[in-house]
Amino acid sequence: LPSPIVLGTLQSGSGRPLLLVHGFPFDAEQWSEQMAPLAARRRVVAVDLRGRGRSTHAPDVDWTLDTHADDLARTLDELGVGPADVVGLSMGGYVAFAFLLRHPDKVASLTLIDSKSGGDTPEAKHGRDENARIVREHGTKALVPLLVPKLVAPTSPAWVGQKLSVMIERTPPSTCIRDLMAMRDRPDSDPAAVRVPALVLHGALDALMPVAAARTMAAAIPGARFVEIPGSGHIACLENADAVNQALSSFLAQLDRGA
Ligand code: MLT
Repeated sequence: LPSPIVLGTLQSGSGRPLLLVHGFPFDAEQWSEQMAPLAARRRVVAVDLRGRGRSTHAPDVDWTLDTHADDLARTLDELGVGPADVVGLSMGGYVAFAFLLRHPDKVASLTLIDSKSGGDTPEAKHGRDENARIVREHGTKALVPLLVPKLVAPTSPAWVGQKLSVMIERTPPSTCIRDLMAMRDRPDSDPAAVRVPALVLHGALDALMPVAAARTMAAAIPGARFVEIPGSGHIACLENADAVNQALSSFLAQLDRGA
């Protein structure tokens, strides 16, 4: 048997882990603006999901979101830390839902940023196949003009789009294709089944996932807080890092007070 994948991490701070799970097709660098500010409250652990970044080489087999979730569990075990405050952006939120279902004892709280609980519609599934074909034929680079304009609000600073482009281009094509298939085949998650403290953050200008749907999802999660992130599209942690860090810090402070 091949040795298990070890996920690469960016880390800062100390104490209870804050596990940051990036979206598609990015890596841990997506959380660059959270590493220092949130280190005041937590041991911040931003992972590279398998197949990219600092993670060890993935075996040549397909994966599902459950595979990513099990990688997170193994990574926390290897770090020797207890339950984490789990934060997932977009695809990272899908992984966080899978993680909560499969490893509930490892989740102290759940934060979903620019994400959703529903699975793909038939039309969205078709889009996954189409994007996989484009990556297979033209490489990951071909996703940059297709994705970046939809991800970032027109008013966001240019460096955000540039940073996203760099991350997209360095993600191996096979990794992109496997993530696309994993997202295509994911099940619906049930927001009403969440039994941990929860926070939902969503960019007011998210063109990919409307903020109204996120508000509805948050209302279905027992006790969840919802914060709309002004001036941000789909990548709120970069587009309006201050607002995201503030909302997360105050949520974590409230958890620490046992409120
Ligand atoms: C992401 O940002 O992770 C993806 O756009 C999510 C998706 O395509 O469903």
